[in-house]
Amino acid sequence: MHKILLDTDIGTDIDDILALSFLLASPEIELLGITTAYGNTVLRGKIAYQVLAHLGRAGQIPIAAGQPATLTSSRPIFWPGHEGKNIDHVGIPDHVLLDQPAEDFILETVKAQEGEVTILAIAPLGNLARAILKAPDTMARVKRIYMMGGVFGRNDPTFLLPVTEHNIHSDPEAAQVVFESGLPITLVPLDVTTKTRLGQEELQALGEVDHPLARLLHAELSAWLPFVQAHDGREFTHMHDPLTAALLLRPALVVHSQSMCIGVETQGVYTTGQTVPISAAGFKHVEVVLQIDAPAFQSFFLERVLQLPVANPPNLEPLPEESGPR
Ligand code: BDR
Ligand code: CA
Repeated sequence: MHKILLDTDIGTDIDDILALSFLLASPEIELLGITTAYGNTVLRGKIAYQVLAHLGRAGQIPIAAGQPATLTSSRPIFWPGHEGKNIDHVGIPDHVLLDQPAEDFILETVKAQEGEVTILAIAPLGNLARAILKAPDTMARVKRIYMMGGVFGRNDPTFLLPVTEHNIHSDPEAAQVVFESGLPITLVPLDVTTKTRLGQEELQALGEVDHPLARLLHAELSAWLPFVQAHDGREFTHMHDPLTAALLLRPALVVHSQSMCIGVETQGVYTTGQTVPISAAGFKHVEVVLQIDAPAFQSFFLERVLQLPVANPPNLEPLPEESGPR
C-alpha cells in the first residue's frame, strides 16, 4: 500500500482532477490527505471536495488549503479567477477544509507516519517549501517526493519545449528550497509528460461510463479540449500530473532516468524557473525521468479511470454547517 499525500493546484489545468481521479481509482493507494497550493487554495480545496463527493468519499479524506501567495510573496499568481469554472463549488462551506494551513498538515502527517509518506507534488511548491523551512527534520522523514515539474529539452532539436515549466516557474524560490533540501525526489519533467495525450477518443470513452465522477470528468474535458485547441492549436491535452501519479505506482513505466543535482534559476531575464542540472554540487538526489513507455501509461491510466469504483452513494450535497472533518 502506498501512503500518499497529494499537493495540487486542482482547478486550473484539467490534469490535476484527472490525477486525483486516477488516485481514487487505484486500490493500492491510501490517500492520507490533499493539500492545495497556489492562488485561490480554498476554492481549489472545495473542488477536491467535490471530486471526493462524486465517489461518496467527501469528508473521508482531509483537505488542507495552503497559503495563497508564492513563497516570497513577490511573484504574481498566474491566471487567477479561472479555477473550477464548470464545477459546482458554490454552497460548499469553508469548514469542509481543515482549520490548519497545508504545511502544518503535511508536517503532522509525515510525523505520524514516520518514513512511510510519499508526497505527490503536482503544483507550484509553496506548501512543501514552507513545511521544509518550518521543520526540516520532520520533512527528512518523507519517503520520497514524486514531482511534476521542470523541463530540460536536451532531446528536442525542434525547440518545441519551452525553457521553463509552470510548476517551477510560478514559484521558483519555493522549488529551490525543495531541491536544496536533499530529500529524495523523482522529477517528471515536460520532456516526458508531453509524450502523453488525451483527446476526442478518450473523451468519447469517458462519455460512455455510467458514473457520477466520469460524467464530471467528461464535462470538464469537453470544456477544456476546445480551450487547448484555441490556445495551442492542439486537439489533445497532456496528462502531466496523471503520468507522475502513474510512475509512482508503476516505476516500470520509466524507460530511462538519471540522477542529478538540480538548481533553479531565480534571477533570469528570460529563464526564471529554469531547471538546471548542476554537476558541481555532487549530491545527486533527484532522479530525473527522461524516457517513458507512453503507450503503456495511456492504457494503465484509461483502465483505471474508465473503471471508477462504485460510488457508495455519491454525497453530492454540501455538508451541513459544522459537520465537516475539522
Ligand atoms: C503543470 O502545470 C499545471 O498547469 C499542470 O497541472 C501541471 O501540474 C504542467 O506544466
Ligand atoms: Ca497541476
